[in-house]
Amino acid sequence: MHHMNEQAGQAAARVDKLLHNLLVVPESAEGKIVEAMRYSILGGGKRFRAFLCCASGNLFDVDPDHSARTAAAIECVHTYSLIHDDLPCMDDDDIRRGKPSLHRAYDEATAILAGDALLTLAFEILADEQTHPRKAVRLDLIAGLTKAAGAQGMVGGQVFDMLSPELELDSGGLTHLQQMKTGALIRFSVEAAAILGGANAEQRQSLVSYANDIGLAFQIADDLLDVEGDEAEVGKPLRTDETAGKANFVTLMGVDQARERVRLLAAQAKEHLAIFRNRANILLQSVDFVLDRKH
Ligand code: IPE
Ligand code: IPE
Ligand code: MG
Ligand code: MG
Ligand code: MG
Repeated sequence: MHHMNEQAGQAAARVDKLLHNLLVVPESAEGKIVEAMRYSILGGGKRFRAFLCCASGNLFDVDPDHSARTAAAIECVHTYSLIHDDLPCMDDDDIRRGKPSLHRAYDEATAILAGDALLTLAFEILADEQTHPRKAVRLDLIAGLTKAAGAQGMVGGQVFDMLSPELELDSGGLTHLQQMKTGALIRFSVEAAAILGGANAEQRQSLVSYANDIGLAFQIADDLLDVEGDEAEVGKPLRTDETAGKANFVTLMGVDQARERVRLLAAQAKEHLAIFRNRANILLQSVDFVLDRKH
């Protein structure tokens, strides 16, 4: 019986090893930026997106090295987004993954540049033939990640998030914000596996529907942790959304309804995996992980 923790641990270890080997600190002055990149990307993180990519890849017997490289690229984009998200001009948070945020450990310019360099590293990884021997597949991955990360995806969601104190969003508006801010990259994590594995349209659609539900559940769980989590366990400052006047699912609908929504989404996410039968066991377990998460 395969267990999620085992596969998640394997995916994280592969991704960490890859990034460790890619981020060699040069002797020269610009070595500082590589050190800063290492500080953020090798400094913890649940590697949830990496797990989704690798576990979805296993549905289609994708070469684990290919899914791990793709997962590493996704984690580079994710970490860059968190580095910039913590900057004083954005959420102004001093702690990330249980240690000082990058701009506190170094300085703002270094944090901006390390974020930029992680974003570009992601595409360098995808463009390399070690990620997949076929150029057309690599190009699909690159195109998918640009859309998920850019103004139509994560960056657009961050803009939406910054404007949210003035927008008086309802639940539909907030869902839309989340689908861009957090959902797009989570969705791409499973789509990338479908691209690598040459999934058919039905398989791809089922995975995307699963990712939409689990992505939303993941964000609502983050909002719940913001209100009732343990700061040491979560590893970042809490109760910050309320202070900043940001809309989130808990400030909008209250703790009980938010929790109920997570349960509903989790049940729905599982249904979308039915077509994969017991091959999707690990992904099914990931739904329970999102339900119970404490960090
Ligand atoms: C944090 O993402 C920001 C959200 C989108 C909720 P994660 O909770 O996946 O952060 P790490 O990678 O584990 O630090
Ligand atoms: C950050 O959302 C999402 C992105 C960086 C794309 P949050 O601002 O809610 O994330 P945390 O709570 O700081 O991790
Ligand atoms: Mg933010
Ligand atoms: Mg934040
Ligand atoms: Mg948050």
